[in-house]
Amino acid sequence: MRDEPLVLGIETSCDETGVGIVRGHTLLADALASSVDQHARFGGVVPEVASRAHLEALVPTMQRALDEAGVTLADVDAIAVTSGPGLAGALLVGVAAAKGYALAAEKPIYGVNHLAAHVAVDTLEHGPLPEPAVAMLVSGGHSSLLLVDDLTAGVTPLGATIDDAAGEAFDKVARLLGLGFPGGPVIDRTARDGDPGSIAFPRGLTAPKDQAKHRFDFSFSGLKTAVARWVEARERAGEPVPIAHVSASFQEAVCDVLTAKAIDACVSNGVGTLVIGGGVAANSRLRVLAEERAARHGIVVRVPRPQLCTDNGAMVAALGSHLVAAGVAPSRLDLPADSAMSLTSVSVPG
Ligand code: KG4
Ligand code: ZN
Repeated sequence: MRDEPLVLGIETSCDETGVGIVRGHTLLADALASSVDQHARFGGVVPEVASRAHLEALVPTMQRALDEAGVTLADVDAIAVTSGPGLAGALLVGVAAAKGYALAAEKPIYGVNHLAAHVAVDTLEHGPLPEPAVAMLVSGGHSSLLLVDDLTAGVTPLGATIDDAAGEAFDKVARLLGLGFPGGPVIDRTARDGDPGSIAFPRGLTAPKDQAKHRFDFSFSGLKTAVARWVEARERAGEPVPIAHVSASFQEAVCDVLTAKAIDACVSNGVGTLVIGGGVAANSRLRVLAEERAARHGIVVRVPRPQLCTDNGAMVAALGSHLVAAGVAPSRLDLPADSAMSLTSVSVPG
């Protein structure tokens, strides 16, 4: 085990400041500071607030991770950092810090893709990922289906949301139901007391006419509007809004589309492994429905535990460790914070 690379990962692309440390596929530390409470009253992440919070949290989070792993920066073989995609100002804090640490400790640096890191984190829980695999990444900022042929080289995008991200839809619907932010966990809980079949909400981009152009794309803004109209009609009629039924029916619409398209992506590409990541992967209904539908096709579903699904430093360290083990060259020290980083690059080239 000592021979495996010791890699430190820094994540600051959105509202979580994460520093993780792994050796090979073994997680040694996963320190996290979240600014989510500071965004709650705005109903969504405020970029400037997130950047400032990263700046304040980074050094203490780094120290906590090193203490937790029982190592010093000198012991580390490489430093990985999220280069993109994400909020420009937020990314910049992590990238600048990683460069500082890499320079001071004379360590190689890997600027990595945040989405690829969401895929790589699963190796910490379930071991090496069989390739090819299909990955579905669903969070507040992204909803994509990816074909993972080789996680060291590049990932092929199959589809993505054409409007809101899946988590964003949860957040917006929770807001209109007066349930607070972030919306996913509270809708997940509220939905348990509701009937998912009680209201027929629309399933975006699933009509036969969408097959040609948008087979693996998602759309959630029509669903969000449908929920808003339904609730308004109830209120106008002076009737109480059945929050649990609305939550359950909305959640069912999202999970139905996500899992149907993910399984279709696996079957049509002859892939036997589906990895789900991102904050929405914590959704209890999504997990059950994915397992149920995958089983019918002999597909194995891999979902890391909830703490690893949401943004964290361990995912960045996991991808860094994978790249080091594969002999991929480190990035240059002038690597950018690239808010629109493409999935075709898993790491910034050297
Ligand atoms: O990956 P993440 O922590 O951050 C990014 O957005 O990158 O994901 C956060 C998102 C939020 O939109 C939150 O509402 C959603 O994940 N989420 C959930 C659940 N837990 C978190 N959505 C549905 N069900 C959940 N249990
Ligand atoms: Zn993310």
